[in-house]
Amino acid sequence: MRVIVSENYQELSKKAAEIMVEQIENKPTSVLGLATGSTPIGMYKELISMQQAGNVDFSQITTFNLDEYVGLTADHDQSYSYFMWDNLFSHVNIKKEQTNIPSGIFTDAKAECSRYEKAMEEAGGVDIQILGIGHNGHIGFNEPAQAFTLSTHVVELASETIEANARFFSDISEVPKQAVTMGIGGIMKARHVLLLVNDKSKAEAVRHLFTGIVDPQVPVSILQLHPNLTVLVDRATAELLP
Ligand code: F6R
Repeated sequence: MRVIVSENYQELSKKAAEIMVEQIENKPTSVLGLATGSTPIGMYKELISMQQAGNVDFSQITTFNLDEYVGLTADHDQSYSYFMWDNLFSHVNIKKEQTNIPSGIFTDAKAECSRYEKAMEEAGGVDIQILGIGHNGHIGFNEPAQAFTLSTHVVELASETIEANARFFSDISEVPKQAVTMGIGGIMKARHVLLLVNDKSKAEAVRHLFTGIVDPQVPVSILQLHPNLTVLVDRATAELLP
C-alpha cells in the first residue's frame, strides 16, 4: 500500500488527476473505474482542465462506474448517471458508448447485474479504480455485512448512508433505499485501486486499512490485501491514522 498525504483537497485532487493521466498516457485504451460522491469532484475538475488544455485524451477510454441508485432514471438529477455527465463526461472527449453505469431501472435485477459483470469482463477488467469511502467503511455501495458479496449486486443502503446522502435530496424520504453496486470481487480485480479520503471524520473507517484484520463489517478493510493500492489522503485525516 502506498499512502500519499496532501496538504489540502485541491492538492489531493490534483495528485489523483495526475495518477489518472499517467495511467491514460501509459495505456490510451485504459478502462477506468469511476466513483461519484463529493470526494472525486475536484479530481474530475482537474481532469477536465487537463483535457481542455490538450494534456490528456479520453477518446479511447472506457469507463465503468461503481454504482447507481435503484429506481432513479439516468436523467434524474440525483442519479449517478446524471452526476457523471454533469461532472465529467459532458466536458471531455469521451465516447458515450464507452461509458458504463449500472442501470437503476430494471425488471430483472439479476440480469442487469450479470450484464454489467459481463461488460466489465469483455472490456478486459478495470485498470484503475477510483474509490471514496463511507463513514461506515463502505466502498462502492458494499455496505457492512456478514460476508462480502463479490459480484455486482443490488444492496439495501445502510441507514447512515441514506442519512449521509440526504444532503443531495430535498428530503431524506426521497433517498432511494437500494442501489446496484459493483461487488468486492470487481473492486479487488482492478489492477490499481486509488482510494481518496478528504474528511477526518472518516479516519476511524480508514484505520481499518492498517489492522491486518479483514472484516466484512468494515468493507474497506479488504483493500489491505490489494497488491496495488494507493491511498490519497489529506493531512488532517492522515494525522489521525496509525
Ligand atoms: C460513490 C460511492 C460511495 C462514495 C462514498 C463517499 O460512487 O461508491 O462509496 O464514494 O459514499 O461519498 P462522499 O465522497 O460523498 O463522501
